[in-house]
Amino acid sequence: MTILVTGGAGFIGANFVLDWLADNDEAVVNLDKLTYAGNLQTLCSLQGDQRHIFVHGDIGDSELVAHLLQEHQPRAIVNFAAESHVDRSIHGPEDFIETNIVGTFRLLEAVRAYWGGLDEQARQAFRFLHVSTDEVYGSLAAGEPAFTETHQYQPNSPYSASKAASDHLVRSYHHTYGLPVLTTNCSNNYGPYHFPEKLIPLMIVNALAGKPLPVYGDGQQIRDWLYVKDHCSAIRRVLEAGKTGEVYNVGGWNEKPNLEIVNRVCALLDELRPRADGKPYAEQITYVTDRPGHDRRYAIDARKLERELGWKPAETFETGIRKTVAWYLDNQEWVQNVQSGSYRDWVEKNYAGRSA
Ligand code: NAD
Ligand code: TYD
Repeated sequence: MTILVTGGAGFIGANFVLDWLADNDEAVVNLDKLTYAGNLQTLCSLQGDQRHIFVHGDIGDSELVAHLLQEHQPRAIVNFAAESHVDRSIHGPEDFIETNIVGTFRLLEAVRAYWGGLDEQARQAFRFLHVSTDEVYGSLAAGEPAFTETHQYQPNSPYSASKAASDHLVRSYHHTYGLPVLTTNCSNNYGPYHFPEKLIPLMIVNALAGKPLPVYGDGQQIRDWLYVKDHCSAIRRVLEAGKTGEVYNVGGWNEKPNLEIVNRVCALLDELRPRADGKPYAEQITYVTDRPGHDRRYAIDARKLERELGWKPAETFETGIRKTVAWYLDNQEWVQNVQSGSYRDWVEKNYAGRSA
């Protein structure tokens, strides 16, 4: 038996593949375009492992995907492949439309043709799990209840709009063609192998490099943080026992303002790798111009997943953030290798003009 994972060289996809193969022997075909966010070094422990078949390619390449499906006959697909960074979607939305919308559409078309050719038993057992985000629901005001699966879609950034479109396409393939789909909408992840353009790894990397820690606006925007391995365990559980056509929200009940996150990262670094001058890393915090259209608050109500499938996160924010900071301290080589010229160009582009 085999599963096909897309985007499995990215942050969450790679954690998923590593955890999957640590736990069972079912092979993984890993289709990834290796954009700036995809990194084969993350998967180097799988070199020579016959259970991991890496394919460099695009989910929007219909011919390639059709060929892979015929060749490997996967019993399930987990679709992580996406452009995922809100700030990049503001600077240049086109890649988001291309991969998240057109790519998902082409993938669904190839999967529909493949699934239609399976025998009845295999058709029944087949699953297409689409990995999505809480950002499709828009922004919450203080005191509003957390997002449930029936919350209205109100995406506010080109990223969240493109993910919302892909969720709708996935839903329609179930409703119209009967494709056995599952969708998960998860809150902000953090943990090992997180590309240092996102809040937590950027703060760790900048702090250690003696650079400013750029907090957008007043730093009081709230995100709901989940340790990446808990997201992966939720996906495995939904794949195993989720009801087709259903949506499951995934979250850790860890709502925190950005400034609190940055201060926590600084305090952990003060403890684990104190600055040479003995001063606190929090001195490096710099307030910069806010992100346009910045969503104020996200919060996930994950009770459906807990009630129906018995899933709960294993980490608290305290245990997860400590593991994460320690991982970055122990894996400086990975960090240096992902900070390529294009990474430096991005940092220049995003933070130039956001004066303190
Ligand atoms: P990421 O940007 O780290 O990784 C995305 C991966 O997809 C990369 O390896 C990239 O090379 C690959 N990719 C991009 N375009 C592709 C294409 N056209 N064909 C094949 N591969 C392609 O993203 P991530 O943080 O790991 O997120 C994975 C998924 O989870 C995304 O769908 C994202 O929307 C969703 N999600 C992320 C978070 C989060 O906090 N990071 C939270 C909820 C949901
Ligand atoms: P991010 O990690 O980009 O995730 P998302 O935008 O998908 O939630 O950002 C998390 C929060 O941190 C978000 O409110 C924006 C804020 N932020 C900063 O304040 N400074 C930064 O340099 C970055 C990258 C993000």
